[in-house]
Amino acid sequence: MSAAFPMKEQIGFIQTDALTQIAAADTERTLDDARVAVLGKKGTLTQAAAGIKTVPPEDKAAVGQLLNAARAAITAALEAKQAALREIADRAALAGIDATLPARSLPVGSLHPLTQIRDQAIGILRRMGFVLADGPEIEDEFHCFDALNTPADHPARNEKDTFYFDSGKLLRTHTSSVQIRTMEAQAPPIRIIAPGSAYRRDEIDATHLSVFNQLEGLYVGTDVSLPDLKGTLEYFFHGLFGTSTEVRFRPHFFPFTEPSFEIDVKLQIRGQAPRWIEVAGCGMVDPAVFDAINRSRQDTAFDPEKTTGFAFGMGLDRLAMIRWGIKDIRLLIENDVRFLRQFG
Ligand code: PHE
Repeated sequence: MSAAFPMKEQIGFIQTDALTQIAAADTERTLDDARVAVLGKKGTLTQAAAGIKTVPPEDKAAVGQLLNAARAAITAALEAKQAALREIADRAALAGIDATLPARSLPVGSLHPLTQIRDQAIGILRRMGFVLADGPEIEDEFHCFDALNTPADHPARNEKDTFYFDSGKLLRTHTSSVQIRTMEAQAPPIRIIAPGSAYRRDEIDATHLSVFNQLEGLYVGTDVSLPDLKGTLEYFFHGLFGTSTEVRFRPHFFPFTEPSFEIDVKLQIRGQAPRWIEVAGCGMVDPAVFDAINRSRQDTAFDPEKTTGFAFGMGLDRLAMIRWGIKDIRLLIENDVRFLRQFG
């Protein structure tokens, strides 16, 4: 019993002292110092616990219980104090912050106007069963001109109008070359659209760039007629500009379609009086094109006696300019965010 008494007293002192230190700690740092001083490897309670070896066997259980109780009380006080100090620190950190202020807005990008008009055009035509087709931008004269019934002396083939490479290849002057590539690869029925870049040696100004964007369409089957062409394109432009938009077909000439038309829509561009605006070229596929395809394919899949079709092509840059009243085509390639931001 004798050795147990001082031990019990000692534990009592340690506990009281520890609880006083914990109560006095006013930072997490001083609280941790208090914890180490009592419960650390060389802490007062740790050392007292080591002294249990010297306690007579009959007292060991009682002293052990006291040690455990002291440790539990000290640990609980440490945890409570730590939570209290954290709470104070959190409050201090939030002081001066007004949680009712609206959040700062993050900058969000938006699709380029050309992308928007292209996606919308594709969407309307896909609903009519057209599928996307593709072709190279570096073309040969056969696919860009010859197969499209465009003879060697045609002005479009002039070196002043077209970018030629030394190899004789060229940057395609229109997406109509995709008509040829598609028909070479696939027999009728064909219903494709091909958006893509085209290149011309144009003097750059407010309405011309040397690279621009077209959307080509081709529909080939056995009973494709002029009313199909008109109906399809009227539906298309009504989808793009609104169902009340007037659409007219004006006779024109393209080497690869016969008859050929230019399409005008009557529109009011922002800030202007309503007027007819040319938006596309189109026509019934010239049988000479089917002949060229058959020769290239070395078959008669496009029998000019039975096969009919229509084609159309339009400038997407132009459509975007009309849609949004953009006066200078160069704005579409300059990537000036002050301009682009308006289309978000
Ligand atoms: N390729 C013609 C152009 O670039 C447009 C067109 C396409 C015309 C298809 C008729 C048929 O001007």
